[in-house]
Amino acid sequence: MITFEGIDGCGKSTIVAQIARQIELGEGPPFRGREFIFTAEPTDGEEGRLLRERLKGPRTAEGGGSGSVDAGGLEGLEELFLFLADHARHLRETVVPALARGAVVISDRYSDSRAAYQAAALGGVVPHPLEWVRQIHRPWSVPPDKTILFSIDPALAFERCRSRIEEGRSSPQPTGHDKFEEETFLREVAANFETMAKGEPERFVVIDAGRRRDEVLVDAMRALEAALSEKAYAPDR
Ligand code: TYD
Repeated sequence: MITFEGIDGCGKSTIVAQIARQIELGEGPPFRGREFIFTAEPTDGEEGRLLRERLKGPRTAEGGGSGSVDAGGLEGLEELFLFLADHARHLRETVVPALARGAVVISDRYSDSRAAYQAAALGGVVPHPLEWVRQIHRPWSVPPDKTILFSIDPALAFERCRSRIEEGRSSPQPTGHDKFEEETFLREVAANFETMAKGEPERFVVIDAGRRRDEVLVDAMRALEAALSEKAYAPDR
């Protein structure tokens, strides 16, 4: 179970698509003979579709930090539970069956996105949101064996998101949130990813995603090869 994580605008989805293409073409020696499943969260299932609709607009930590569960806080909780329902479906329909037959599952976003994003939205709503969100997963989720984290300056990622919108490749709905609030939210999400990576250095591989796409691709491919050649993935197991 290998996951790719990072803040919006870090370029992760483009790189994952390129990796999928290369593997499909049979490139990279340690990959031969293995079944690969490329998947993502939010999924294309019922909850995932609902979430994508809801998340079209810019994100802020609205409701967080107030010290009480107000309307914004409840909205954040509603979102968290929708993401968790989507995750349960993802496990049931895709991840668990694929791992059971020995496939390598690669997910573009997974449980750490919940910890990073929903914890940023739940500040002041629940105590220690990062740990709280992670604990909710523990009894039933399948933890990733390796997580490749795309690290990027939130200001640069934010600019990339904005230019994507201006070029018409993303279409946010107007929300009235200002640029500062959105960038602050992204900073908080990035800090949460960083905290998790520091806490579990054996699971996380951090890649500098502020560079050219071809350089990032090379690093991501290397990280994947290294993960697959670790003992847990040896083909005879
Ligand atoms: P995604 O479609 O992966 O966006 P992108 O292709 O730009 O990376 O994810 C949509 C949004 O959902 C993104 O802003 C991150 C957010 N998200 C959460 O807040 N929590 C989660 O658990 C997941 C999986 C995604």
